[in-house]
Amino acid sequence: MESQATASTATPAQTRAIGAGIAPLLGAGDVVLLVGPLGAGKTTLVQGLVAALGGREPVTSPTFTLAHRYPTSPPVTHVDLWRLGHLQEVVDLALEEELDGGGVVIVEWGEAAEPLYGADALVVRLGWGRTDDERTIAVEARGASWISRAAGLSAVAGAGAGTPGEAAVGEG
Ligand SMILES: Nc1ncnc2c1ncn2[C@@H]1O[C@H](COP(=O)(O)OP(=O)(O)O)[C@@H](O)[C@H]1O
Ligand SMILES: [Mg+2]
Repeated sequence: MESQATASTATPAQTRAIGAGIAPLLGAGDVVLLVGPLGAGKTTLVQGLVAALGGREPVTSPTFTLAHRYPTSPPVTHVDLWRLGHLQEVVDLALEEELDGGGVVIVEWGEAAEPLYGADALVVRLGWGRTDDERTIAVEARGASWISRAAGLSAVAGAGAGTPGEAAVGEG
């Protein structure tokens, strides 16, 4: 089962709103893989997501600390794999314990974790748009656990699930 929805955003606030829209779809054991180049807006999207789950502290990039854990509901572990060179290092982060313990794991440079989690995950691809501040965001649900949530996914991007579409996302 795969379903995909796409959107474009014109401001960081709109990208945070996409993150906030994804937040209520997430539950214990979910993995979100964020894919896209430096500056695409991965951390910005996580800011909106964590805030929507009740996070009160500011979300910063875990590039040098590898992982930040937020006491949200469900708890979010925010990982940045940019500096990791080997899959074994991803394994060593013991993300499985977070997932089994009811947490959600969100991974920047998520392509590095695809061999482990790519079959059952929400994959969010961020890329450049036509202007400096425009970003394209494609959200793809993979795996059986996402079948029942596909409708919610389409609402996030304002596009039809299963049929790639494009929608400008409004302010707020
Ligand atoms: N539409 C947009 N969505 C997200 N970020 C944007 C947008 N327009 C401009 N920006 C800027 O792009 C940068 C994105 O940075 P960040 O979220 O840290 O990216 P990444 O984590 O992918 O490296 C920020 O400086 C942000 O202000
Ligand atoms: Mg980042």
